[in-house]
Amino acid sequence: MFGWYLIRPDAELTQTHLNVWQADFEGFYDVQQPDSQPQGNGCGLFTADDHGRFYFRSVVPAPYPIPTNGLVGELLAATGRHAYRPAHIHFIVGAPGFRELTTHIFVNDSAYLDSDAVFAVKRSLVRDFTPRAAGTDNPCGVVESFVEAHIDITLHADGGGHT
Ligand SMILES: [Fe+2]
Repeated sequence: MFGWYLIRPDAELTQTHLNVWQADFEGFYDVQQPDSQPQGNGCGLFTADDHGRFYFRSVVPAPYPIPTNGLVGELLAATGRHAYRPAHIHFIVGAPGFRELTTHIFVNDSAYLDSDAVFAVKRSLVRDFTPRAAGTDNPCGVVESFVEAHIDITLHADGGGHT
């Protein structure tokens, strides 16, 4: 499965940089599986084009549990809550003259969207991951069937930002 993403800022943004990281299709980050995942797997550093657009291909991530040792585990147990986060992809996005934005987007059909262990889901952060048939035009040059997601991120010069 593959995804590609579009940044559409509210002003012309050149030199927009993106730091992206995600878990794999089983819900593990590279640092959790150093013996089976290469260092940096699921991570990427990108520079948008002169129109502020970027795209990449990756796997659709899976939900994963947060650590349950210590106080967090006690809190989850005391409140009868599970430890899972819905599938998501992290972004840090910035451009010269604009405030850097740290956010994440969630996969629309993921489990746990309504019960994120860390209460971070907002409807505006949920994105459709839409299946596309083989041969569908895409900027990544993928010829097999894939899953497509679009993300518009607005950067602000005067502080704050949102997707
Ligand atoms: Fe995460």
